[in-house]
Amino acid sequence: MTNIKKIGVLTSGGDCAGLNAVIMSVVNAASQFGWQVYGIHDGTDGLTNRPLSYEILTPSNFSDTPWPRLAGSYLGSLNTGVKESQEVLAKRFGDGVRELGLDAVVVVGGDGSMNIVSNYCHMAGVKMVGIPKTIDNDTPLTEFSVGFNTACQICTNALDDLMTTARSHHRALILEVMGRDAGHLAMHAALAGFADVCLVPEIRWSLQGIINKLEQIKQSGRTSALIVVSEGVKTENGEAVTNAVNMIGEKINGGIGDYISNLINANYKGFQTRVTKLGHVQRSGNPTAFDRSLAIVLGAEAVNLLAEGHTDRMVAITRGKVTSFSLDEVVAAGTAGLDAASSYVKAARAIGMYIGE
Ligand code: F6P
Repeated sequence: MTNIKKIGVLTSGGDCAGLNAVIMSVVNAASQFGWQVYGIHDGTDGLTNRPLSYEILTPSNFSDTPWPRLAGSYLGSLNTGVKESQEVLAKRFGDGVRELGLDAVVVVGGDGSMNIVSNYCHMAGVKMVGIPKTIDNDTPLTEFSVGFNTACQICTNALDDLMTTARSHHRALILEVMGRDAGHLAMHAALAGFADVCLVPEIRWSLQGIINKLEQIKQSGRTSALIVVSEGVKTENGEAVTNAVNMIGEKINGGIGDYISNLINANYKGFQTRVTKLGHVQRSGNPTAFDRSLAIVLGAEAVNLLAEGHTDRMVAITRGKVTSFSLDEVVAAGTAGLDAASSYVKAARAIGMYIGE
């Protein structure tokens, strides 16, 4: 058992639907043990900046309010790296934790946050439990991260909407979705939205392959098509379509939809193409039932682990069961891309979707 009395909770990385349900779950479960919960503002910034930025959370923050049903993070999040060294930030993070008297910190984040924040915690001697969230679904060792299912639904809805106008105008419509360097979101949305072509970063593609598929559709008498492209897809030659970076030099994805559209138009006259880049709406929307229950289950398990005296672990869902892995294992596993041999990819090929060679 444990002598925990006070914990912190923070959300880190790109936001997504379901974060507020996770925070609510952590607060409610912790309150069952009589613990105090400090909500840290804006990811690790709330602990590394001065003055510290936080608020005390109780179940009343979330009961009888719409918060757990809304996307975004009640606490704010941080999705850009920072210029200071890890050592400097870890020291400030640890000092912040000690100033607030926190016995442990629950970090809701993706693979990047598990890596960075667990490093701070390790260097500063802070106990941590991680909860996976990301629309990219690329956090390793968990089958699903909070927010992924809702993003899949948003992309699927977009494909449903695009299909009607594609049909009216006899076009091949391209949907560019997020996912960073992982194709999970594109693949799941393409299957659910009955797309004809799906390009993901993990599988090389060819223009001829796309054209063959479009021509096959045309020959069958159908006059419209749907193409899903993941933002991290590279050109046929394996080059990035953009060198864009954010203000601290990190790569920004996007633009592959337009690139492929131009390429098709220049080489094939069977369909006109248009591009929809879905953008940050993929991180919004009310969380689906799946994401809400995942959020509650993982939040409660994170608190349970702390109550049982386990720390430096990330909760996960494997084969439908809640489990946990050491943060060292999670960090060592890196980023979980789409497995080109997965059942999803196999099914896509089996139904005739073009997904590359
Ligand atoms: O990791 C989540 C994610 O939404 C990615 O899919 C996307 O590439 C990135 O974040 C966008 O980040 P930003 O909010 O900095 O534009």
